[in-house]
Formats: sequence, C-alpha cells, structure tokens
Amino acid sequence: MKKMISEKAERFTESVIREMTRLAHLYDAVNLSQGFPDFPAPEPVKTAAIRAIEAEVNQYAITWGAKSFRDAICRKYAEYYQMELDPERELTVCCGSTEAMISALMAIINPGDEVIVFEPFYENYGPDAILSGATPRFVKLYPPKLAEGSSRVWYFDGDELASAFNDRTKAIVINTPNNPTGKVFTRAELELIAQLCQKWNVIAVTDEIYEHIVYDGAQHIPMATLDGMRDRTITINGMSKTYSVTGWRVGFAIAPPALTSAIRKVHDFLTVGAPAPLQEAGVLALSLPSSYYEQLARDYAVKRARLLGILNNAGFGCFIPYGAYYIMTDISKFGFETDVAFAQYLVKDIGVAVVPGSSFYNNPAYGYRQVRFAFCKREATRKAPSVRMELFFNSGNDLLSHTVTSAVSSALEGLTSVFGMGTGVTPPE
Ligand SMILES: Cc1ncc(COP(=O)(O)O)c(C=O)c1O
Repeated sequence: MKKMISEKAERFTESVIREMTRLAHLYDAVNLSQGFPDFPAPEPVKTAAIRAIEAEVNQYAITWGAKSFRDAICRKYAEYYQMELDPERELTVCCGSTEAMISALMAIINPGDEVIVFEPFYENYGPDAILSGATPRFVKLYPPKLAEGSSRVWYFDGDELASAFNDRTKAIVINTPNNPTGKVFTRAELELIAQLCQKWNVIAVTDEIYEHIVYDGAQHIPMATLDGMRDRTITINGMSKTYSVTGWRVGFAIAPPALTSAIRKVHDFLTVGAPAPLQEAGVLALSLPSSYYEQLARDYAVKRARLLGILNNAGFGCFIPYGAYYIMTDISKFGFETDVAFAQYLVKDIGVAVVPGSSFYNNPAYGYRQVRFAFCKREATRKAPSVRMELFFNSGNDLLSHTVTSAVSSALEGLTSVFGMGTGVTPPE
C-alpha cells in the first residue's frame, strides 16, 4: 500500500520541548521548559523593527540577507572575535539559527555521510541529521560528579571522540555554550576537536547562539578562530537568545565561500529569505554597545543563582551551567521510574513544566534520571498561590509514596514565588 507519510518524517517525533509548553498552558503551570524569555525585548530593538515596517521595508530582502544586516554581522565579528568576514561570500541570513543549521547540513551531506553529535544534544539535531540524510554518531558528554571537590563541568572522553571519526565522517556538530548542559567548551577541547577535523577532513558546524550568555569567567571561543579552522567551520548564530527575540526568526550561517554558495542555494529554496524589517532592526541590535552583553550575562547570572538555590534546597542534584540559560538536574533522589513520569508529575500536580532529560539523548535511558529547567524567565515578586499544592498534598495521591513530597513542595514554593504562576504570558507587574 502507498505510504502517505515519508520515512524521514516517521523517524522522529513531535518536539518534546514544545509539547511541554503545551502542557504548561493546559495546567497553567510555571513554564520552565522551553528556552524563550518571557520578559520584554530591548526597547530600541523593538522600535527599530516598527520603524522599518513603517519605512516600507516590507518586501523580500536579498535572499542571503539584507546588505545592511550582513555588514552589521561583519562589524560585530571583527570587533568581538577579530574575524574579518566577506559579507558577499561568507554569510547567509536565515529564518533563525534553526534554518541555518538545517540549510548547512543539507548543503554538505551526501547519502552515507556521518555526522558526529555530542549527547545530550539540543533536540533539533536528531531530526536535522535525519532530514539531511546523515547518519548520526553520538559521542557522550559525561556529567560532573555531584560530590564536593570533584570536577564541576561536563566532559567528553578524547579517545571516544577520536574513535567516532572515520572516512565517512563529513561533519561534527558542536554547541557551545551548550544546551542542555551549560557546558562552555574550553580552548583545549576545541583544539582537540579541530585536530581531528583536520586529520579526517571534516567540517565543524558550531551552534554558538548562546555566545554572550556565560558565567563565572567562562569564555566563549568561536571554533572558526582556531588555527586551520576558518576554512572548515560553519558558524551558526542568530538574534533569538542574545536579543530576547525568539519569535523573530532571524539567524545566520558564516562559512567559507564554497560552502556559503551551497548553503545559500538550499536556503533560497527552503525559505527565500528571513524577515526583512527584522533584519533591519538587527542592524541596530548588533550595534549595541558591549555593556548590553555584559548586562545580559549579569542578569542571567542572578536568575541562575536563584534557581540553583531553589533546586538545591528542594533536593535536586544540580549540574552548574557556565553558559546558556538552563540547569540540567539529577532527579535520582525522588524515586520516579523515569524522567517523563517525573516531568508529568511536576507539570500536572505541582504546576512546574520542565523538559524530561531523555529528550536530549539518542538512547533515552541515559536521560531517565535528568530533567532540564530553563531560567530565561522574568522574576515575579508576587507570592504564588499555593492552593494547588495544598490540594495535592492533602489528596492522598499515590505519588505521595515517593520521597518527593516535601522536596518538590518546597521547589514549588520557591519556583512559583520567584517566577510567578501561569505560563509567563502575564505582563510584568
Ligand atoms: C542550541 C540551540 N540552537 C538553536 C536554537 C534555536 O535558535 P533559533 O531561534 O535561532 O532558531 C536553540 C533554541 O533553544 C538552541 O537551544
């Protein structure tokens, strides 16, 4: 019988993160699942977008990006990373870094090509590999021990990484600062990856959208700035996270000219172009002074500290993030069968939406003891209603047999008072 659904589409499921956001709405829960800020975007950036629309920047921009925006990207990369880019031959503006990533992979992958992906990984990379026809090979990022005095950062085993490379390897996907782990790859780690890329003639595709969100002195190092890597790196970046405009869908890919011309072709036939007026606003955004980025990192550091405090008190094992705006946690202590069962319990009965850890792994079992919290949320000062919690804990619910009760109850107290009840759509007070 004729199959109406493609085999590719059948091979992946609906986004777990977006599903958690749906559940957050359904149960009126605090949404700490999806990584979108619920606080206002910077005023001047919004004003620039409005002005652009009023000034009739309303038709298609040049397919690979408005010249003014590409120039702004070049100025920023020259200033922050001393990278001199050719706006005519090395840049493609896309509909978010999501489209930049899939366009890049579709531009370089042939049947049989392998792509190395560190896991846990941002959940789009799995479907990206399938849609582009790549065979993914996963290399594990190991969590740090939670005990005092041990290493505090996620790490990979150099030998495991080296053995993932072979003649079929076309690319390696790196995400630094990393979602979901908060890892910021060190120069030594990037150099090791770079050496392997050069040895095996492999392209590094680096998703650097959290470049400015780093803590405790961690430094973001773009892979393309390492010796010998400029010619074999596709850098993916975008406006979503840095300027708190995830709904604008403006991102870009930086790549050497031959790769750029392939990416531009794929991008053209996928989407034609990114939103023209929002690229114009991007010119202003990318020209903001460095104090803007410093303040952004400081603000997120405060939110990180608060959420870490709440989760530690509640008994979660917290893997401290040094970049991005998520906290991966260990939930072993609570005694649930799986991360999904725990996440459903949290959203339905406690009113807090998180992402089950298994959705970040190819082998879901690796994530059964983890859930991820996002802290890119405004901090509400109003006291949350704790009625729901009281009802739950007095209801004789089966789950009370879990050791979770008092721990999660205090998590709720903390989370709801800091982040406010509701799905984050309520305007700030
Ligand atoms: C690592 C990573 N890459 C890409 C994206 C999506 O970015 P964009 O909005 O630019 O498509 C996200 C969003 O959460 C992310 O965490």
